[in-house]
Amino acid sequence: MPATWKNGVFAEIYVRGYKDSNGDGIGDLPGLTQSLDYLKDLGITGIWLMPVTQSLDRDHGYAVANYRSIESDYGTLADFDELLRQAHLRGIGVVIDYVINHSASSNALFLNSDNSPSNTYRDWYVWQNNAPSGWNVFGSNPWYLGNAGGAYFAAFTRTMPDFNLRKAEVVAYHHDNLRLWLNRGVDGFRFDAVGNLVENGPNGSTPGSGWESQPENHVVMNGVRQVVAGYTNRYMVCESPAAPLLFGAANSCGSAFAFGLQGDVVNAARGNTAAISRVSAYFTAAPAGMASFISNHDSFAGDRLWDQAGGDNAVYRLAAATNLLQGTTPFIYYGEEIGMAGASSLTGDPRLRTPMSWSSNNIASSNVDPAGFSTRAGFRANSANVASNNVVAQQGNANSLLNYYKQVIALRTSRPSLMQGNHAGATASGTVMSFRREVTTGATTERTLVVFNYGAAAATANVSGLPSSAALRRLWPVGAAGAAADASGAALIGVPAQSFAVFAVE
Ligand code: NOJ
Repeated sequence: MPATWKNGVFAEIYVRGYKDSNGDGIGDLPGLTQSLDYLKDLGITGIWLMPVTQSLDRDHGYAVANYRSIESDYGTLADFDELLRQAHLRGIGVVIDYVINHSASSNALFLNSDNSPSNTYRDWYVWQNNAPSGWNVFGSNPWYLGNAGGAYFAAFTRTMPDFNLRKAEVVAYHHDNLRLWLNRGVDGFRFDAVGNLVENGPNGSTPGSGWESQPENHVVMNGVRQVVAGYTNRYMVCESPAAPLLFGAANSCGSAFAFGLQGDVVNAARGNTAAISRVSAYFTAAPAGMASFISNHDSFAGDRLWDQAGGDNAVYRLAAATNLLQGTTPFIYYGEEIGMAGASSLTGDPRLRTPMSWSSNNIASSNVDPAGFSTRAGFRANSANVASNNVVAQQGNANSLLNYYKQVIALRTSRPSLMQGNHAGATASGTVMSFRREVTTGATTERTLVVFNYGAAAATANVSGLPSSAALRRLWPVGAAGAAADASGAALIGVPAQSFAVFAVE
């Protein structure tokens, strides 16, 4: 794997929704393996798989029944090994979701823990003799009565009991699981719910007496980071919606999703000047290692971009490019590259987790609508715009969203400065935002200048800080004229309405 795989663009994949290889209506690992050429062609260098381990919930996978085996709906360990092998052959790294905070209530560890107060595994989970009062976690009382007395803590649902991560054996167990997958060849992890690992009390995020964002979480994740760092060329990224910046490069995880940014990116793309300023400030001040995204599998993070943009093609494309050209590690959610909408018949999370729209082969009469996802009806309703926004239709259209994503991703991956450079010289003025990405290798500095105009009218960016009289060689839009900086390193760049421009600074 090239060392730069983790600086390219990642796709978040919901295996259940991606591609069914055996005709049972459920996506699986061989189906994903068959789709790797598509992902490679898109320019993706990493994939994040939502949990692929054996799960209780038979849906999104975050209730892990067995950390060391593959969900039977998805295939076998051999299928997983083959996915890794084929992904690596294509220069694509595979990052798997790891749920460290809680297991499924059907996990053998919890069944033991729940079996009796004297069971060896009792304190692998969080128990109290009597359910404490006064707790409210995500709108619910998180204490549930056990089978043999006592009450256990479960931040998310009754069926997802929290591990006791103050216990060394529990931490060691997770380290062993991580090593098992690393030794099998996975390229890293997305760690679920790292703001919820250790609780001190019922008081929200108050350090030392709260249930969220407690200092002890960093102790756990520092240990995990050391395990991952024992292997070469791996990547880890953490999920902490409440306090993402606490898990950036300088802290325990080294990388975390940029929750809070995604809405601003979409509003910036709509031309909202306050959002444009916030986006510019974010990329200027955020710690290194943040991972940006526009939407994901959770409805709390936002709707699919198609629904947020209301089908507005210009807004969609500007939001996408803003995500893809920054100094963050950009993630796209599967189907984002074809403008997949949510399912009109569904609400909440399922609306976002539909079968991938590979084609438009509706077979309405038999109520079978596999859309290239399966040979029979899929496990869930299709995306609302499957007839127009599908892979087959867009592959045949040079101006399609799919081809646009390919071109912007290729632009990023063709320039070391766009892949891994720092973020410099950011400005935001009205609807115009500009920044440079710069990387120094040996004696050479590669610079790229990016200018967005999110407004409905043409605008001129006043850029400074460039090398004296630098030539600005046009990279985007392809074929447009270049420009030049004056002796003081300033340039006026005209940018048409709702578009962006990229230059190599030479
Ligand atoms: C965050 C995940 O993204 C979400 O889908 C899941 O339900 C919770 N963590 C609990 O695992």
